[in-house]
Amino acid sequence: MLAPLSKEEFRRLLTCFEDAGYVEANLRKHLGAAELPSRQLRNEPRLLDRTAEPTLLNALLRWFWLGRPQTEAQAADSVPADFRALLLNCGLLRADAGTLSATAMLLPWDGFLVAADFPRAIERAEPEMVLWPNPTSKFLARFAIRRHSRATLDLGTGSGILSLGAARFSDTVVATDLNQRAVSFAAFNAKLNGVESIEVLAGDCFAPVVNRRFDLILSNPPFFITPQQGYMFCDNSMELDGLCRRLVKEAPEYLNEGGYMQMLCEWAQVSGQPWEERIAEWLDGTGCDAWVMKGLTQDPAEYAQHRIRETTLDTADDASLYRGYMTYYRDRGVEAIHDGLVVMRRRAGTNWMQLEEVPKTPNGDLGELVLSTFAAHDLLSQLQDDESLLAVRPRLSGHARLEQVCEQSGGRWAAESITLRLISGFPFHLALQPLVAEFLATCDGTRTAGQAIEEFAVVANAPLDTVRSECLAMMRKLIDRGFMVVAPG
Ligand SMILES: C[S@@+](CC[C@H](N)C(=O)[O-])C[C@H]1O[C@@H](n2cnc3c(N)ncnc32)[C@H](O)[C@@H]1O
Repeated sequence: MLAPLSKEEFRRLLTCFEDAGYVEANLRKHLGAAELPSRQLRNEPRLLDRTAEPTLLNALLRWFWLGRPQTEAQAADSVPADFRALLLNCGLLRADAGTLSATAMLLPWDGFLVAADFPRAIERAEPEMVLWPNPTSKFLARFAIRRHSRATLDLGTGSGILSLGAARFSDTVVATDLNQRAVSFAAFNAKLNGVESIEVLAGDCFAPVVNRRFDLILSNPPFFITPQQGYMFCDNSMELDGLCRRLVKEAPEYLNEGGYMQMLCEWAQVSGQPWEERIAEWLDGTGCDAWVMKGLTQDPAEYAQHRIRETTLDTADDASLYRGYMTYYRDRGVEAIHDGLVVMRRRAGTNWMQLEEVPKTPNGDLGELVLSTFAAHDLLSQLQDDESLLAVRPRLSGHARLEQVCEQSGGRWAAESITLRLISGFPFHLALQPLVAEFLATCDGTRTAGQAIEEFAVVANAPLDTVRSECLAMMRKLIDRGFMVVAPG
């Protein structure tokens, strides 16, 4: 359907889009909110109104955002002939009986132009629909570790959006997908954006990359936990969260030592188990350190309603669909469904695992945060015995701030609470006693933890043994969360 042009022709095509203002920031302004056309949002009249004036940008938007055909005569008025020819030659436009129609949606994102299916593919229930860059792709891209990677795998590449981003810091990228249409889109998008280091392969899970190893694996797999198998982009044929479990179990074989896998997923909480137990079993024995950041938790009823609304537009079958979903969950003892990000790092030795609910995700790129969290854990596992922790010189991170809330009392301000906060990364915070806050102020990297604790025991007029064990426990927590960093003694 989509055909490659020469490098030079694709470069000219991209320049035409840029010159027309078909770029992310401008579209947000031009369309008001840059929403995709959606029957659920009922925003088509507004988008049509916004693109009514016969300009080049509006012609492009009507084709590649709204999926509206235009007559050849209309197009000739606003779109230069050589631009039209490029669009027709690469198959992004199709001519039929005097009408020109777009064959794919085009989304500008992060400096790339990405072709994918129009949202109406959901309206038509097309199982092989190729998903456009969406909030989940963007979320994973923000967490991606952007240090040099000799080889990166993007498993379940879809439009190829994560591969395009990864190509900026990887020598080579392998993009794989079970859906042959996705493979074609990803290959087209690599060429369209002039990225030559992406190899696109078709196949199930890791099958296309047997015997290969990567420094980084990114995956935004079809993780919906439903009885449906309607769409390849979100449904899979395994029981509950079986596909994500399988990817976690198999990934280490495809990672270089020190390599990371970052995967978005959902997992079920089943009959009376704490949420951590099921995902801990996935990670157990993988030979990887792991950090699981749990996000949203939904009960099965709310989850079913949400997924039915997202994947079906016709409301006629809502009641039977809902019953089917709820029977599926009930039969399997599902009490809740969680979503989150799993980060694994292959490492020989005794592995650690941190499973936690994280506060609101901060803005910006978070790859460095992932690396510093792994570094803090490594450090803590080296400082497990008290003697080694007492010997290091701790200091508060430059991102730590003390916040004091006061109340009026007896004609003065009296401290009601003291909170240590992080102003960068996840917004972790910790309530402190005033004396402990004083102790932390003395942790400035000039003395060892042992010396600082001895001095503090004198100031606090408390037994050294008690102060030492409490301070060391707190320091471990502060190092773990990034409030405190240490230098060798
Ligand atoms: C949620 S989409 C993500 C697409 C893209 N990576 C993104 O982030 O926008 C999941 C992708 O996984 C693909 N997929 C589904 N089952 C797969 C399997 N067993 N092996 C490999 N890819 C699969 C789907 O075709 C789809 O393109």
